[in-house]
Amino acid sequence: LSNGIAEREKTLAMIKPDGLSGNYTDGIKKVILESGFRILRERVVQLDENGAATFYAEHSSRSFFSSLIKYMTSGPALAMVLEKENAIADWRTLIGPTDARKAKITHPHSIRAMCGLDSEKNCIHGSDSPQSAQREMSFFFKEMSSVHLLCQQLYVQF
Ligand code: PPS
Repeated sequence: LSNGIAEREKTLAMIKPDGLSGNYTDGIKKVILESGFRILRERVVQLDENGAATFYAEHSSRSFFSSLIKYMTSGPALAMVLEKENAIADWRTLIGPTDARKAKITHPHSIRAMCGLDSEKNCIHGSDSPQSAQREMSFFFKEMSSVHLLCQQLYVQF
């Protein structure tokens, strides 16, 4: 589509507890803006066990699940909605591989390479598909309900 508005996509980003406590927030926001994203919403959140388990439900059978939940409830995180053309894939590229140790080798300019430690303390999250983006944005920003986002998508098609 050629009107510019229609090409924008939204994704959920979250600065995890190690990112916030490590004072990486300003640096990360600078990278976000310099990479052409707009920050549409942001909210500091303190996840409890229930919330973290719901957010990461798809990983509930993984061996690291309880450790992940413990870590994600260990302190505040910053949830953000980012908008840009191709936001979901571009944000995943910008944050780099899950394991920050590998990111430092293969993607040294990625956010995880700069701020993360390993696969758990990897500083930052990004939705991995349009479906997760929709679910995760609604999770933290109730006003961005599925119905609202669906209407927006339908509108975009016309
Ligand atoms: S994997 O290993 O490729 O399947 O990893 P991935 O699916 O990208 O990881 C999903 C989320 O789980 C977190 N993770 C971990 N937490 C704790 N310990 C270990 N070992 C571990 N491995 C992965 C990882 O940070 C991902 O979190 P999000 O927020 O989705 O990036």
